[in-house]
Amino acid sequence: MQAVFVLSPAPDDPLSVLEIGDRPEPEVPDGWTTVQVKAASLNHHDLFSLRGVGLPQERMPMILGCDATGLDEDGNEVVVHAVLSSPGWTGDETLDPKRSLLSEVFQGTFAERVAVPKRNLLPKPAELSFAEAACLPTAWLTAYRMLFVRSGLRPGQTVLVQGASGGVATALVALGRAAGYRMWVTGRSEEKRQAALALGADQAFETGARLPERVDGVMETVGEATWSHSVKSLKPGGVIVTSGATTGFGPKAELNRIFFTQLSVIGSTMGTRAELESLIEMCRVTGVRPRIDVELPMAEAREGFSRMLEGRTGGKIVFTL
Ligand SMILES: NC(=O)c1ccc[n+]([C@@H]2O[C@H](COP(=O)([O-])OP(=O)(O)OC[C@H]3O[C@@H](n4cnc5c(N)ncnc54)[C@H](OP(=O)(O)O)[C@@H]3O)[C@@H](O)[C@H]2O)c1
Repeated sequence: MQAVFVLSPAPDDPLSVLEIGDRPEPEVPDGWTTVQVKAASLNHHDLFSLRGVGLPQERMPMILGCDATGLDEDGNEVVVHAVLSSPGWTGDETLDPKRSLLSEVFQGTFAERVAVPKRNLLPKPAELSFAEAACLPTAWLTAYRMLFVRSGLRPGQTVLVQGASGGVATALVALGRAAGYRMWVTGRSEEKRQAALALGADQAFETGARLPERVDGVMETVGEATWSHSVKSLKPGGVIVTSGATTGFGPKAELNRIFFTQLSVIGSTMGTRAELESLIEMCRVTGVRPRIDVELPMAEAREGFSRMLEGRTGGKIVFTL
């Protein structure tokens, strides 16, 4: 079957190891099933995988992709939950130390068919297209958990999102707006800042700019390049929720400011199946939809990866079959 995969990591030149070609049909363990993939969305995670971050050589060849929508074995339209918990795990699967995402241990979703545990399938509502729903399991679920589960922030409060055009950033703005938060963003170009305003951001600022007032919360996925600004942008008692570090894991910690102004730093990762179910329902009820930048046939996946690597993003990049 046709698939997008990696044979060996390339930390400094990820596109050089991106393969598009034939891979064997998925193996289906007991309790698992196959999904015929209709759409799959690209995440920064897939670029990290090409670099070998979280995906060592011994687990390759690996089909990339965490997110998918498609048809189950009975022809039902489904959304795939990307978090795989270990056998016997009960409770919040994001807290399972042995959890993985599709494409980390088991083959991923950028393929004609993917094997997944039966419990990881959710019904896709008719109101969302395959492409829209394919944006939800990673970037949108991560944004949902950051804002609604982990932050403790309330609608009406001001939340700064670092980054304007990325998958998680656009999800945060759209979800926060729909739920009544005052969403501020930083973006690296005027075009990206304007797009964030069009998406529902209340104000958009240049990356690193001094804000007109301090905010209640910051949503961080950028890491090293914005961490100090995030800490300095918070009111006393404010909260940073961090779920990523695109630009590096080693920022100056700003410990003095964190303790002296009594900030909370909260980690967040992906979300549970139940949270994905709630997110899908929120999209259905409110009419909020993922901002899709571009839809490409999976055979043209290289163009999508190039866009993300170069920061040419304007929402989600979706591959279709
Ligand atoms: N923990 C989890 O479960 C989880 C889940 C999903 C994602 N993540 C992580 O979250 C991050 C974002 O993922 P994504 O898929 O949304 O990636 P993406 O679509 O490529 O978006 C990248 C974002 O980072 C911003 N950015 C990149 N370099 C920057 C710099 N030098 N200065 C300021 N901003 C910069 C971009 O801002 P502009 O808009 O200004 O270009 C953009 O908004 C990744 O690190 C990913 O691994 C983690």
